[in-house]
Amino acid sequence: MRILFLTHAFNSLTQRLHVELRALGHEVSVEFDINDAVALEAVGLHQPDLIIAPFLKRAIPEAIWRNHLCLVVHPGIRGDRGPSALDWAILKGERRWGVTVLQANGEMDAGDIWASVEFEMREATKGSLYRNEVTEAAVVAVKQAVERFQTGGYQPQPLKQIDPSGLGRWRRLVKQDDRAIDWEKDTTARILRKIRSADGMPGVQDSLFGRQCYLYDARPERVLKGTPGEPIARCGGAICRATIDGAVWIGHLREKRGEHPFKLPATRLLAAEAAALPEIAADEASGYREIRYQEEAGVGLLHFPFYNGAMSTAQCEALLAAFREAKRRDTRVILLLGGADYWSNGMHLNLIEAASSAADESWRNINAIDDLAREIIETESHLTVAALQGNAGAGGVFLARAADEVWARRGVILNPHYKDMGNLFGSEYWTYLLPGCSGDERAARIAETRLPMGVDEAVALNLIDRVIDGPVNGFVSHVRRLASGMIRTPAFSERLHYKNARRQADEAVKPLARYREEELEQMKRNFYGFDPSYHVARYNFVYKVPKSRTPLTLANHRWAKPFRRVS
Ligand code: COA
Repeated sequence: MRILFLTHAFNSLTQRLHVELRALGHEVSVEFDINDAVALEAVGLHQPDLIIAPFLKRAIPEAIWRNHLCLVVHPGIRGDRGPSALDWAILKGERRWGVTVLQANGEMDAGDIWASVEFEMREATKGSLYRNEVTEAAVVAVKQAVERFQTGGYQPQPLKQIDPSGLGRWRRLVKQDDRAIDWEKDTTARILRKIRSADGMPGVQDSLFGRQCYLYDARPERVLKGTPGEPIARCGGAICRATIDGAVWIGHLREKRGEHPFKLPATRLLAAEAAALPEIAADEASGYREIRYQEEAGVGLLHFPFYNGAMSTAQCEALLAAFREAKRRDTRVILLLGGADYWSNGMHLNLIEAASSAADESWRNINAIDDLAREIIETESHLTVAALQGNAGAGGVFLARAADEVWARRGVILNPHYKDMGNLFGSEYWTYLLPGCSGDERAARIAETRLPMGVDEAVALNLIDRVIDGPVNGFVSHVRRLASGMIRTPAFSERLHYKNARRQADEAVKPLARYREEELEQMKRNFYGFDPSYHVARYNFVYKVPKSRTPLTLANHRWAKPFRRVS
Protein backbone atom coordinates (compact mmCIF):
# COMPACT_ATOMS: atom_id res chain seq x y z
CA MET A 1 0.00 0.00 0.00
CA ARG A 2 0.96 3.61 -0.42
CA ILE A 3 1.16 5.07 3.07
CA LEU A 4 1.77 8.71 3.97
CA PHE A 5 3.03 9.61 7.43
CA LEU A 6 1.80 13.02 8.50
CA THR A 7 3.88 13.85 11.54
CA HIS A 8 5.14 16.72 13.66
CA ALA A 9 8.69 15.31 13.54
CA PHE A 10 10.56 12.18 12.51
CA ASN A 11 10.86 11.09 16.15
CA SER A 12 11.87 7.66 17.44
CA LEU A 13 8.36 6.18 17.17
CA THR A 14 7.92 7.51 13.64
CA GLN A 15 11.33 6.12 12.68
CA ARG A 16 10.42 2.70 14.04
CA LEU A 17 7.05 2.60 12.22
CA HIS A 18 8.82 3.73 9.04
CA VAL A 19 11.20 0.78 9.34
CA GLU A 20 8.46 -1.74 10.22
CA LEU A 21 5.97 -0.77 7.51
CA ARG A 22 8.62 -0.60 4.79
CA ALA A 23 9.78 -4.06 5.83
CA LEU A 24 6.21 -5.26 5.16
CA GLY A 25 6.52 -3.96 1.61
CA HIS A 26 4.51 -0.75 1.97
CA GLU A 27 5.57 2.36 0.11
CA VAL A 28 5.97 4.85 2.93
CA SER A 29 6.56 8.54 2.46
CA VAL A 30 6.75 11.23 5.15
CA GLU A 31 5.52 14.81 5.34
CA PHE A 32 6.07 17.07 8.35
CA ASP A 33 2.94 18.80 9.55
CA ILE A 34 3.99 22.34 8.70
CA ASN A 35 0.68 23.82 7.52
CA ASP A 36 -2.58 22.71 5.88
CA ALA A 37 -1.48 23.64 2.35
CA VAL A 38 1.74 21.62 2.58
CA ALA A 39 -0.12 18.61 3.99
CA LEU A 40 -2.71 18.78 1.21
CA GLU A 41 0.02 19.07 -1.39
CA ALA A 42 1.76 15.98 0.03
CA VAL A 43 -1.48 13.99 -0.14
CA GLY A 44 -1.94 15.11 -3.74
CA LEU A 45 1.59 14.08 -4.66
CA HIS A 46 1.73 10.72 -2.86
CA GLN A 47 -1.87 9.66 -3.54
CA PRO A 48 -1.85 7.45 -0.43
CA ASP A 49 -4.16 4.52 0.22
CA LEU A 50 -3.81 5.31 3.90
CA ILE A 51 -2.53 8.20 6.03
CA ILE A 52 -0.94 7.55 9.42
CA ALA A 53 -0.20 10.23 12.01
CA PRO A 54 2.36 8.71 14.40
CA PHE A 55 3.12 11.95 16.27
CA LEU A 56 0.90 14.92 15.63
CA LYS A 57 0.41 18.07 17.70
CA ARG A 58 -2.63 19.49 15.92
CA ALA A 59 -5.72 18.31 14.08
CA ILE A 60 -5.54 16.88 10.56
CA PRO A 61 -7.19 19.28 8.06
CA GLU A 62 -10.81 18.34 7.33
CA ALA A 63 -10.15 18.31 3.58
CA ILE A 64 -7.79 15.40 4.22
CA TRP A 65 -9.67 13.23 6.74
CA ARG A 66 -12.95 13.55 4.83
CA ASN A 67 -11.37 12.07 1.69
CA HIS A 68 -8.82 9.63 3.12
CA LEU A 69 -8.69 7.22 5.99
CA CYS A 70 -6.34 8.84 8.53
CA LEU A 71 -5.17 6.76 11.50
CA VAL A 72 -3.85 8.64 14.52
CA VAL A 73 -1.51 6.93 17.00
CA HIS A 74 -2.58 8.00 20.48
CA PRO A 75 -0.38 7.07 23.49
CA GLY A 76 -3.34 6.19 25.68
CA ILE A 77 -5.69 3.33 26.46
CA ARG A 78 -8.97 2.74 24.63
CA GLY A 79 -11.23 5.75 25.27
CA ASP A 80 -8.43 7.99 26.54
CA ARG A 81 -8.33 11.38 24.84
CA GLY A 82 -6.33 14.57 25.11
CA PRO A 83 -2.86 16.02 24.60
CA SER A 84 -1.16 14.75 27.80
CA ALA A 85 -2.04 11.06 27.79
CA LEU A 86 1.23 9.61 29.04
CA ASP A 87 1.91 12.54 31.40
CA TRP A 88 -1.37 11.85 33.23
CA ALA A 89 -0.76 8.10 33.32
CA ILE A 90 2.57 8.70 35.12
CA LEU A 91 1.21 11.40 37.43
CA LYS A 92 -1.75 9.24 38.45
CA GLY A 93 0.47 6.19 38.96
CA GLU A 94 -1.48 3.99 36.51
CA ARG A 95 -0.31 0.37 36.58
CA ARG A 96 -1.32 -0.38 32.99
CA TRP A 97 -1.46 1.94 30.03
CA GLY A 98 -1.68 1.58 26.27
CA VAL A 99 -1.64 2.84 22.73
CA THR A 100 -4.75 3.30 20.61
CA VAL A 101 -4.98 3.75 16.86
CA LEU A 102 -8.04 5.78 16.01
CA GLN A 103 -9.58 7.32 12.96
CA ALA A 104 -9.23 11.09 12.59
CA ASN A 105 -12.48 13.07 12.52
CA GLY A 106 -13.58 16.58 13.50
CA GLU A 107 -12.96 16.09 17.24
CA MET A 108 -9.61 15.40 18.92
CA ASP A 109 -9.02 11.66 19.54
CA ALA A 110 -12.77 11.01 19.21
CA GLY A 111 -12.77 8.88 16.06
CA ASP A 112 -13.51 5.17 15.74
CA ILE A 113 -10.96 2.81 17.25
CA TRP A 114 -9.05 0.54 14.85
CA ALA A 115 -6.70 -1.13 17.33
CA SER A 116 -5.53 -0.80 20.91
CA VAL A 117 -2.69 -2.51 22.79
CA GLU A 118 -1.93 -2.33 26.51
CA PHE A 119 1.30 -2.66 28.50
CA GLU A 120 2.55 -2.71 32.11
CA MET A 121 3.80 0.67 33.31
CA ARG A 122 7.34 0.99 34.64
CA GLU A 123 8.88 3.54 36.99
CA ALA A 124 10.63 5.55 34.30
CA THR A 125 10.57 8.90 32.55
CA LYS A 126 7.92 9.75 29.99
CA GLY A 127 10.60 9.68 27.29
CA SER A 128 11.80 6.24 28.31
CA LEU A 129 8.26 4.81 28.37
CA TYR A 130 7.60 6.41 25.00
CA ARG A 131 10.76 5.00 23.42
CA ASN A 132 10.16 1.51 24.82
CA GLU A 133 6.68 0.36 25.92
CA VAL A 134 4.69 2.90 23.87
CA THR A 135 6.75 2.25 20.75
CA GLU A 136 6.46 -1.55 21.03
CA ALA A 137 2.69 -1.31 21.60
CA ALA A 138 2.30 1.19 18.76
CA VAL A 139 4.07 -1.13 16.33
CA VAL A 140 1.66 -3.96 17.17
CA ALA A 141 -1.42 -1.70 17.08
CA VAL A 142 -0.48 0.05 13.82
CA LYS A 143 0.32 -3.23 12.07
CA GLN A 144 -3.03 -4.62 13.24
CA ALA A 145 -4.91 -1.54 12.03
CA VAL A 146 -3.13 -1.54 8.66
CA GLU A 147 -3.91 -5.21 8.16
CA ARG A 148 -7.56 -4.67 9.11
CA PHE A 149 -7.82 -1.85 6.61
CA GLN A 150 -6.06 -3.81 3.89
CA THR A 151 -8.18 -6.94 4.37
CA GLY A 152 -11.37 -4.86 4.37
CA GLY A 153 -14.65 -5.46 6.15
CA TYR A 154 -13.39 -4.46 9.59
CA GLN A 155 -15.81 -2.42 11.67
CA PRO A 156 -13.84 -0.06 13.95
CA GLN A 157 -15.28 0.51 17.42
CA PRO A 158 -17.08 3.84 17.88
CA LEU A 159 -15.83 5.85 20.88
CA LYS A 160 -19.35 6.10 22.31
CA GLN A 161 -19.25 2.37 23.07
CA ILE A 162 -16.54 3.01 25.70
CA ASP A 163 -17.82 3.46 29.26
CA PRO A 164 -17.22 7.19 30.04
CA SER A 165 -16.84 6.48 33.78
CA GLY A 166 -13.87 4.16 33.14
CA LEU A 167 -10.17 4.97 33.05
CA GLY A 168 -10.24 5.85 29.34
CA ARG A 169 -11.74 9.35 29.06
CA TRP A 170 -10.95 12.94 28.03
CA ARG A 171 -8.16 14.55 30.06
CA ARG A 172 -7.04 18.12 29.57
CA LEU A 173 -3.49 19.35 28.99
CA VAL A 174 -1.23 18.93 32.03
CA LYS A 175 -0.21 22.35 33.32
CA GLN A 176 2.87 23.28 35.35
CA ASP A 177 0.58 23.67 38.41
CA ASP A 178 -0.41 20.00 38.14
CA ARG A 179 3.18 18.92 38.63
CA ALA A 180 4.54 21.76 40.77
CA ILE A 181 6.65 20.31 43.57
CA ASP A 182 5.77 21.19 47.16
CA TRP A 183 9.10 20.46 48.84
CA GLU A 184 7.49 20.77 52.30
CA LYS A 185 4.86 18.13 51.59
CA ASP A 186 5.78 15.90 48.64
CA THR A 187 7.51 12.59 49.30
CA THR A 188 10.51 11.48 47.24
CA ALA A 189 8.27 9.07 45.29
CA ARG A 190 5.81 11.84 44.45
CA ILE A 191 8.57 14.22 43.38
CA LEU A 192 10.09 11.56 41.13
CA ARG A 193 6.72 10.90 39.56
CA LYS A 194 6.15 14.60 38.87
CA ILE A 195 9.57 15.09 37.27
CA ARG A 196 9.38 11.85 35.28
CA SER A 197 5.95 12.81 33.90
CA ALA A 198 7.58 15.82 32.20
CA ASP A 199 10.92 14.28 31.11
CA GLY A 200 11.97 14.77 28.05
CA MET A 201 9.60 17.75 27.71
CA PRO A 202 8.62 20.22 29.11
CA GLY A 203 10.29 19.54 32.49
CA VAL A 204 8.98 20.60 35.89
CA GLN A 205 9.34 24.30 36.58
CA ASP A 206 11.01 25.05 39.90
CA SER A 207 13.48 27.38 41.48
CA LEU A 208 17.02 26.38 42.40
CA PHE A 209 19.43 28.80 44.06
CA GLY A 210 16.85 31.47 43.21
CA ARG A 211 16.97 30.69 39.48
CA GLN A 212 13.88 29.60 37.58
CA CYS A 213 14.57 26.34 35.76
CA TYR A 214 13.00 23.13 34.58
CA LEU A 215 14.07 19.89 36.27
CA TYR A 216 14.94 16.62 34.50
CA ASP A 217 16.75 13.34 35.02
CA ALA A 218 15.66 12.76 38.63
CA ARG A 219 16.91 9.79 40.62
CA PRO A 220 16.36 8.79 44.25
CA GLU A 221 19.15 9.25 46.81
CA ARG A 222 19.14 6.61 49.55
CA VAL A 223 21.54 7.94 52.19
CA LEU A 224 21.79 11.75 52.27
CA LYS A 225 19.23 13.81 54.14
CA GLY A 226 18.66 17.52 54.87
CA THR A 227 16.16 20.35 55.04
CA PRO A 228 13.42 19.64 52.45
CA GLY A 229 14.01 21.52 49.19
CA GLU A 230 17.59 22.53 50.07
CA PRO A 231 20.46 21.58 47.75
CA ILE A 232 22.74 19.42 49.89
CA ALA A 233 25.43 17.88 47.66
CA ARG A 234 26.80 17.47 44.15
CA CYS A 235 28.02 14.38 42.33
CA GLY A 236 29.15 14.33 38.69
CA GLY A 237 26.82 16.67 36.82
CA ALA A 238 23.97 16.35 39.34
CA ILE A 239 22.73 18.32 42.34
CA CYS A 240 21.07 16.60 45.30
CA ARG A 241 18.01 18.17 46.97
CA ALA A 242 16.62 17.00 50.27
CA THR A 243 12.98 15.89 50.52
CA ILE A 244 10.76 15.22 53.54
CA ASP A 245 11.74 11.52 53.50
CA GLY A 246 15.17 11.46 51.83
CA ALA A 247 16.60 13.24 48.82
CA VAL A 248 16.62 13.28 45.00
CA TRP A 249 19.35 13.88 42.45
CA ILE A 250 18.57 16.30 39.64
CA GLY A 251 20.88 15.49 36.74
CA HIS A 252 19.78 18.04 34.16
CA LEU A 253 18.24 21.51 34.13
CA ARG A 254 16.93 23.92 31.53
CA GLU A 255 16.67 27.64 32.17
CA LYS A 256 13.66 29.32 30.64
CA ARG A 257 15.66 32.31 29.58
CA GLY A 258 19.30 33.06 30.25
CA GLU A 259 22.43 32.47 28.24
CA HIS A 260 21.81 28.79 27.45
CA PRO A 261 18.07 28.03 27.44
CA PHE A 262 18.45 24.31 26.72
CA LYS A 263 19.12 21.17 28.79
CA LEU A 264 22.48 21.06 30.52
CA PRO A 265 23.94 19.05 33.36
CA ALA A 266 22.81 20.73 36.60
CA THR A 267 26.32 21.52 37.81
CA ARG A 268 27.14 23.10 34.44
CA LEU A 269 24.12 25.42 34.45
CA LEU A 270 24.55 26.38 38.12
CA ALA A 271 28.32 26.04 38.16
CA ALA A 272 29.18 28.67 40.78
CA GLU A 273 26.38 27.66 43.17
CA ALA A 274 27.08 23.94 42.78
CA ALA A 275 30.79 24.43 43.43
CA ALA A 276 29.97 25.50 46.98
CA LEU A 277 28.14 22.21 47.71
CA PRO A 278 29.95 19.24 49.25
CA GLU A 279 31.01 16.79 46.52
CA ILE A 280 30.30 13.12 47.12
CA ALA A 281 31.63 10.08 45.27
CA ALA A 282 29.00 7.74 43.86
CA ASP A 283 28.82 4.18 45.17
CA GLU A 284 26.23 1.39 45.17
CA ALA A 285 24.13 3.07 47.88
CA SER A 286 24.48 6.77 47.23
CA GLY A 287 25.21 9.42 44.61
CA TYR A 288 24.49 10.01 40.92
CA ARG A 289 26.17 7.32 38.88
CA GLU A 290 26.66 7.50 35.14
CA ILE A 291 29.05 4.58 34.75
CA ARG A 292 28.64 1.25 36.50
CA TYR A 293 30.74 -1.90 36.27
CA GLN A 294 29.66 -5.41 37.26
CA GLU A 295 31.26 -8.79 36.83
CA GLU A 296 29.73 -12.22 36.50
CA ALA A 297 31.04 -15.57 35.26
CA GLY A 298 34.04 -14.18 33.39
CA VAL A 299 32.05 -11.32 31.85
CA GLY A 300 32.59 -7.64 32.64
CA LEU A 301 29.46 -5.52 32.20
CA LEU A 302 29.99 -1.82 31.63
CA HIS A 303 26.83 0.30 31.84
CA PHE A 304 26.88 3.93 30.72
CA PRO A 305 23.31 5.29 30.65
CA PHE A 306 24.26 8.87 29.76
CA TYR A 307 21.22 11.13 29.60
CA ASN A 308 19.85 11.15 26.03
CA GLY A 309 22.86 9.10 24.90
CA ALA A 310 24.97 12.26 24.59
CA MET A 311 28.66 11.75 25.42
CA SER A 312 30.63 14.82 26.50
CA THR A 313 34.42 15.07 26.61
CA ALA A 314 34.44 14.38 30.36
CA GLN A 315 32.02 11.45 30.01
CA CYS A 316 34.17 9.88 27.26
CA GLU A 317 37.26 10.29 29.44
CA ALA A 318 35.52 8.71 32.43
CA LEU A 319 34.27 5.85 30.27
CA LEU A 320 37.74 5.33 28.82
CA ALA A 321 39.16 5.06 32.36
CA ALA A 322 36.39 2.60 33.33
CA PHE A 323 36.99 0.54 30.19
CA ARG A 324 40.75 0.40 30.88
CA GLU A 325 39.96 -0.73 34.42
CA ALA A 326 37.60 -3.42 33.04
CA LYS A 327 40.40 -4.66 30.78
CA ARG A 328 42.66 -5.16 33.79
CA ARG A 329 40.18 -7.60 35.34
CA ASP A 330 40.48 -11.36 35.08
CA THR A 331 37.53 -11.69 32.71
CA ARG A 332 37.31 -12.79 29.06
CA VAL A 333 34.47 -10.74 27.55
CA ILE A 334 33.52 -7.11 28.13
CA LEU A 335 29.93 -6.15 27.41
CA LEU A 336 29.51 -2.46 26.58
CA LEU A 337 25.89 -1.92 27.54
CA GLY A 338 25.19 1.82 27.13
CA GLY A 339 21.84 2.66 28.71
CA ALA A 340 18.30 1.28 28.53
CA ASP A 341 17.11 4.16 26.33
CA TYR A 342 20.15 4.89 24.19
CA TRP A 343 23.43 3.16 23.60
CA SER A 344 25.03 6.38 22.37
CA ASN A 345 24.17 9.38 20.22
CA GLY A 346 27.74 10.60 19.85
CA MET A 347 29.17 13.96 20.86
CA HIS A 348 27.30 16.03 23.45
CA LEU A 349 25.84 18.73 21.23
CA ASN A 350 24.26 20.75 24.07
CA LEU A 351 27.52 21.08 25.96
CA ILE A 352 29.27 22.00 22.72
CA GLU A 353 26.65 24.68 22.07
CA ALA A 354 27.17 26.07 25.59
CA ALA A 355 30.97 26.16 25.34
CA SER A 356 32.82 29.46 24.91
CA SER A 357 34.23 28.06 21.65
CA ALA A 358 31.93 25.49 20.06
CA ALA A 359 34.64 24.57 17.56
CA ASP A 360 37.24 23.90 20.28
CA GLU A 361 34.80 21.88 22.36
CA SER A 362 33.73 19.87 19.29
CA TRP A 363 37.40 19.14 18.66
CA ARG A 364 37.99 18.01 22.26
CA ASN A 365 34.81 15.91 22.26
CA ILE A 366 35.54 14.08 19.00
CA ASN A 367 39.09 13.37 20.14
CA ALA A 368 37.80 12.00 23.44
CA ILE A 369 35.38 9.66 21.60
CA ASP A 370 38.17 8.63 19.25
CA ASP A 371 40.45 7.80 22.21
CA LEU A 372 37.71 5.54 23.55
CA ALA A 373 37.08 3.94 20.14
CA ARG A 374 40.81 3.27 19.69
CA GLU A 375 41.05 1.65 23.14
CA ILE A 376 38.16 -0.66 22.24
CA ILE A 377 39.57 -1.51 18.81
CA GLU A 378 43.03 -2.24 20.24
CA THR A 379 41.79 -4.52 23.02
CA GLU A 380 43.86 -7.71 22.87
CA SER A 381 43.01 -9.29 26.22
CA HIS A 382 39.24 -9.62 25.81
CA LEU A 383 36.51 -10.05 23.24
CA THR A 384 34.39 -6.92 23.32
CA VAL A 385 30.67 -6.81 22.58
CA ALA A 386 28.59 -3.66 22.16
CA ALA A 387 25.15 -4.78 23.35
CA LEU A 388 22.48 -2.28 22.31
CA GLN A 389 19.39 -2.23 24.51
CA GLY A 390 18.42 1.18 23.10
CA ASN A 391 18.92 3.14 19.92
CA ALA A 392 22.18 4.57 18.63
CA GLY A 393 22.79 7.49 16.32
CA ALA A 394 25.64 9.12 14.39
CA GLY A 395 29.03 8.56 16.08
CA GLY A 396 27.32 6.29 18.61
CA VAL A 397 26.74 3.64 15.93
CA PHE A 398 30.37 3.65 14.84
CA LEU A 399 31.61 3.65 18.42
CA ALA A 400 29.58 0.45 18.88
CA ARG A 401 31.19 -0.98 15.74
CA ALA A 402 34.60 -0.52 17.39
CA ALA A 403 33.76 -3.61 19.47
CA ASP A 404 34.42 -7.10 18.08
CA GLU A 405 30.71 -7.83 17.93
CA VAL A 406 27.57 -5.71 17.96
CA TRP A 407 24.38 -7.23 19.35
CA ALA A 408 21.11 -5.32 19.33
CA ARG A 409 17.70 -5.83 20.88
CA ARG A 410 14.98 -6.40 18.29
CA GLY A 411 13.28 -3.04 17.90
CA VAL A 412 16.46 -0.99 18.19
CA ILE A 413 16.80 1.72 15.55
CA LEU A 414 20.16 2.83 14.21
CA ASN A 415 20.90 6.11 12.48
CA PRO A 416 24.35 5.31 11.07
CA HIS A 417 24.99 8.68 9.47
CA TYR A 418 26.34 12.10 10.38
CA LYS A 419 25.26 14.12 7.40
CA ASP A 420 22.07 15.47 8.96
CA MET A 421 24.29 17.37 11.39
CA GLY A 422 25.37 19.90 8.75
CA ASN A 423 27.27 17.44 6.56
CA LEU A 424 29.55 16.45 9.39
CA PHE A 425 32.18 14.02 8.10
CA GLY A 426 32.38 12.04 11.34
CA SER A 427 35.23 10.18 12.97
CA GLU A 428 35.33 7.29 15.49
CA TYR A 429 37.47 5.43 12.90
CA TRP A 430 34.36 4.83 10.80
CA THR A 431 36.39 4.88 7.59
CA TYR A 432 38.23 1.81 8.96
CA LEU A 433 35.35 0.10 10.76
CA LEU A 434 32.52 0.39 8.24
CA PRO A 435 34.29 -1.01 5.15
CA GLY A 436 35.69 -3.70 7.48
CA CYS A 437 32.23 -5.02 8.32
CA SER A 438 30.08 -4.02 5.34
CA GLY A 439 32.50 -3.75 2.43
CA ASP A 440 33.54 -0.61 0.57
CA GLU A 441 30.52 -0.08 -1.63
CA ARG A 442 27.91 -0.61 1.06
CA ALA A 443 29.93 1.45 3.51
CA ALA A 444 29.84 4.41 1.14
CA ARG A 445 26.10 4.03 0.69
CA ILE A 446 25.38 3.64 4.41
CA ALA A 447 27.29 6.87 5.01
CA GLU A 448 25.33 8.68 2.30
CA THR A 449 21.83 7.39 3.10
CA ARG A 450 20.22 9.45 5.83
CA LEU A 451 17.52 7.02 6.90
CA PRO A 452 16.95 5.07 10.12
CA MET A 453 17.65 1.38 9.96
CA GLY A 454 16.07 -1.55 11.79
CA VAL A 455 17.99 -4.56 13.05
CA ASP A 456 17.16 -6.86 10.13
CA GLU A 457 18.58 -4.42 7.63
CA ALA A 458 21.59 -3.80 9.89
CA VAL A 459 22.27 -7.56 10.05
CA ALA A 460 22.01 -7.84 6.25
CA LEU A 461 24.64 -5.08 6.00
CA ASN A 462 26.85 -6.69 8.70
CA LEU A 463 26.48 -3.53 10.74
CA ILE A 464 25.28 -5.70 13.61
CA ASP A 465 26.08 -9.35 14.24
CA ARG A 466 23.26 -10.63 16.38
CA VAL A 467 19.65 -9.74 17.16
CA ILE A 468 18.47 -10.27 20.72
CA ASP A 469 14.79 -11.16 20.99
CA GLY A 470 12.82 -10.75 24.19
CA PRO A 471 11.65 -8.01 26.50
CA VAL A 472 13.69 -4.92 27.41
CA ASN A 473 13.91 -5.85 31.08
CA GLY A 474 15.43 -9.27 30.39
CA PHE A 475 18.04 -7.92 27.97
CA VAL A 476 21.05 -7.56 30.28
CA SER A 477 20.80 -11.03 31.82
CA HIS A 478 20.18 -12.53 28.36
CA VAL A 479 23.32 -10.99 26.81
CA ARG A 480 25.34 -11.82 29.94
CA ARG A 481 24.38 -15.49 29.55
CA LEU A 482 25.25 -15.42 25.85
CA ALA A 483 28.64 -13.85 26.61
CA SER A 484 29.55 -16.44 29.23
CA GLY A 485 28.43 -19.13 26.77
CA MET A 486 30.94 -17.72 24.27
CA ILE A 487 33.76 -18.10 26.79
CA ARG A 488 32.93 -21.75 27.34
CA THR A 489 33.23 -22.66 23.64
CA PRO A 490 36.51 -24.36 22.65
CA ALA A 491 36.93 -21.84 19.84
CA PHE A 492 37.12 -18.87 22.21
CA SER A 493 40.94 -18.65 22.49
CA GLU A 494 41.22 -19.17 18.76
CA ARG A 495 38.84 -16.28 18.15
CA LEU A 496 40.85 -14.03 20.38
CA HIS A 497 44.01 -15.04 18.59
CA TYR A 498 42.40 -14.52 15.18
CA LYS A 499 41.08 -11.04 16.00
CA ASN A 500 44.50 -9.91 17.25
CA ALA A 501 46.21 -11.30 14.16
CA ARG A 502 43.67 -9.52 11.94
CA ARG A 503 44.20 -6.23 13.78
CA GLN A 504 47.95 -6.52 13.32
CA ALA A 505 47.53 -7.27 9.63
CA ASP A 506 45.19 -4.29 9.20
CA GLU A 507 47.64 -2.07 11.08
CA ALA A 508 50.42 -3.11 8.72
CA VAL A 509 48.30 -2.15 5.69
CA LYS A 510 47.24 1.20 7.13
CA PRO A 511 47.78 2.31 10.72
CA LEU A 512 44.74 3.32 12.78
CA ALA A 513 46.44 6.65 13.40
CA ARG A 514 46.24 7.45 9.69
CA TYR A 515 42.50 6.79 9.53
CA ARG A 516 42.06 9.12 12.47
CA GLU A 517 44.26 11.80 10.97
CA GLU A 518 42.31 11.72 7.69
CA GLU A 519 38.91 11.80 9.42
CA LEU A 520 39.95 14.59 11.76
CA GLU A 521 41.31 16.61 8.87
CA GLN A 522 37.75 16.64 7.48
CA MET A 523 36.27 17.31 10.91
CA LYS A 524 38.59 20.24 11.36
CA ARG A 525 37.05 21.75 8.24
CA ASN A 526 33.57 21.10 9.66
CA PHE A 527 34.48 22.77 12.96
CA TYR A 528 36.81 25.59 11.89
CA GLY A 529 36.29 25.96 8.13
CA PHE A 530 34.51 28.49 5.97
CA ASP A 531 31.30 26.43 5.66
CA PRO A 532 29.19 27.01 8.85
CA SER A 533 26.70 24.16 8.11
CA TYR A 534 27.64 22.07 11.16
CA HIS A 535 27.35 25.01 13.54
CA VAL A 536 24.00 26.04 12.06
CA ALA A 537 22.64 22.47 12.15
CA ARG A 538 23.82 22.00 15.74
CA TYR A 539 22.23 25.30 16.81
CA ASN A 540 18.93 24.27 15.18
CA PHE A 541 19.08 20.84 16.83
CA VAL A 542 19.91 22.11 20.32
CA TYR A 543 17.41 25.01 20.18
CA LYS A 544 14.81 22.70 18.62
CA VAL A 545 14.14 25.07 15.73
CA PRO A 546 11.09 23.63 13.92
CA LYS A 547 11.76 22.30 10.45
CA SER A 548 10.34 24.42 7.65
CA ARG A 549 10.23 21.53 5.18
CA THR A 550 10.50 17.75 5.12
CA PRO A 551 13.94 16.44 4.13
CA LEU A 552 13.84 14.90 0.66
CA THR A 553 15.33 11.68 2.03
CA LEU A 554 11.97 11.13 3.78
CA ALA A 555 9.49 12.80 1.42
CA ASN A 556 9.65 10.29 -1.44
CA HIS A 557 6.61 11.90 -3.00
CA ARG A 558 8.63 15.04 -3.64
CA TRP A 559 11.20 13.12 -5.67
CA ALA A 560 10.96 12.51 -9.37
CA LYS A 561 12.10 8.95 -8.53
CA PRO A 562 11.82 7.29 -5.10
CA PHE A 563 14.87 7.71 -2.86
CA ARG A 564 17.15 4.70 -3.22
CA ARG A 565 17.71 2.55 -0.13
CA VAL A 566 20.93 0.80 0.79
CA SER A 567 20.71 -2.85 -0.23
N1 COA B 1 23.79 15.61 22.09
C1 COA B 1 22.90 16.19 22.94
N2 COA B 1 21.60 15.84 23.00
C2 COA B 1 21.20 14.86 22.17
C3 COA B 1 22.08 14.22 21.27
C4 COA B 1 23.42 14.62 21.25
N3 COA B 1 24.31 14.04 20.46
N4 COA B 1 21.38 13.30 20.58
C5 COA B 1 20.11 13.35 21.03
N5 COA B 1 20.00 14.30 21.98
C6 COA B 1 18.80 14.67 22.73
C7 COA B 1 17.79 15.46 21.90
O1 COA B 1 18.06 16.84 21.91
C8 COA B 1 16.49 15.13 22.62
O2 COA B 1 16.46 15.95 23.78
P1 COA B 1 15.13 16.26 24.62
O3 COA B 1 15.07 15.21 25.68
O4 COA B 1 15.39 17.60 25.17
O5 COA B 1 13.98 16.23 23.67
C9 COA B 1 16.72 13.68 23.09
O6 COA B 1 18.13 13.48 23.07
C10 COA B 1 16.10 12.68 22.17
O7 COA B 1 16.54 12.98 20.85
P2 COA B 1 15.56 12.98 19.61
O8 COA B 1 16.26 13.63 18.47
O9 COA B 1 14.23 13.51 20.03
O10 COA B 1 15.49 11.41 19.44
P3 COA B 1 15.16 10.57 18.18
O11 COA B 1 15.10 9.17 18.65
O12 COA B 1 13.98 11.16 17.51
O13 COA B 1 16.41 10.76 17.18
C11 COA B 1 18.79 10.80 16.64
C12 COA B 1 17.64 10.15 17.46
C13 COA B 1 20.09 10.13 17.07
C14 COA B 1 18.53 10.58 15.17
C15 COA B 1 18.84 12.31 16.90
O14 COA B 1 18.74 12.54 18.30
C16 COA B 1 20.12 12.96 16.44
O15 COA B 1 20.26 13.22 15.26
N6 COA B 1 21.04 13.25 17.37
C17 COA B 1 22.29 13.91 17.06
C18 COA B 1 23.35 12.91 16.64
C19 COA B 1 24.60 13.63 16.23
O16 COA B 1 24.64 14.30 15.22
N7 COA B 1 25.64 13.53 17.08
C20 COA B 1 26.84 14.28 16.87
C21 COA B 1 27.76 13.69 15.89
S1 COA B 1 28.66 12.33 16.59
